[in-house]
Amino acid sequence: MPKIKIGVLASGGGTNLQAIMDACDREDIDGSVVVVISDSSDAYALERARKGDIRAETISPKGRTRDEHEKLISNLLSEEGVDLVVLAGYMRILTPWLIDKYAGRMMNIHPALLPSFGGEGMFGEHVHEAVLNYGCKVSGCTVHFVSADVDGGPIILQEPVQVLEDDTPDSLADRIHPVEHRLYPMAISLYASGRLKIEGRRVRILPERGGT
Ligand code: GRF
Repeated sequence: MPKIKIGVLASGGGTNLQAIMDACDREDIDGSVVVVISDSSDAYALERARKGDIRAETISPKGRTRDEHEKLISNLLSEEGVDLVVLAGYMRILTPWLIDKYAGRMMNIHPALLPSFGGEGMFGEHVHEAVLNYGCKVSGCTVHFVSADVDGGPIILQEPVQVLEDDTPDSLADRIHPVEHRLYPMAISLYASGRLKIEGRRVRILPERGGT
């Protein structure tokens, strides 16, 4: 299978983007990030892309309808021949039009164990706050395919992280982040080697080619 072309959408610091770029450089992922798109020119993710010699573009939603904004994103992804769209801290909810276009080819990472603590409004520290307020003893992160149902697409990988007695939203986020940095590249690597098969809500992880 040829190397896949990855397009990343990010609004923030881009530590997940960095982990994915590094995994591509190490050839842990049989693919490369060809474009990083942000809705904000301040996103440090753009700087990370430039430092890695990757095309970095801001497509601002300002003064545009949602449809116009997403058409521009879609055009750029097509222009770069992107096979897989990776949402890495992208703070906007996409319309079903773009999601359908990349059905089974768009992933997201969420900093909790879905289906708990997901959906609209559940982003950033709101997620960790809600986990702590509920009194959960365990949280974690989830990589999933994107569907029109926010945070509701088929789950690819999950990993738990223990909640500690004196955790704050920040301290919990700080322990989940490194797990994300391992899990997201792993999920993308499985995709790139053709080992993910979506069957309804389930994602089957196929054995390695040549393996059992
Ligand atoms: C991560 O916690 C991810 O789970 C969520 O947004 C955050 C992005 O962090 N979707 P970063 O920009 O990759 O550091």
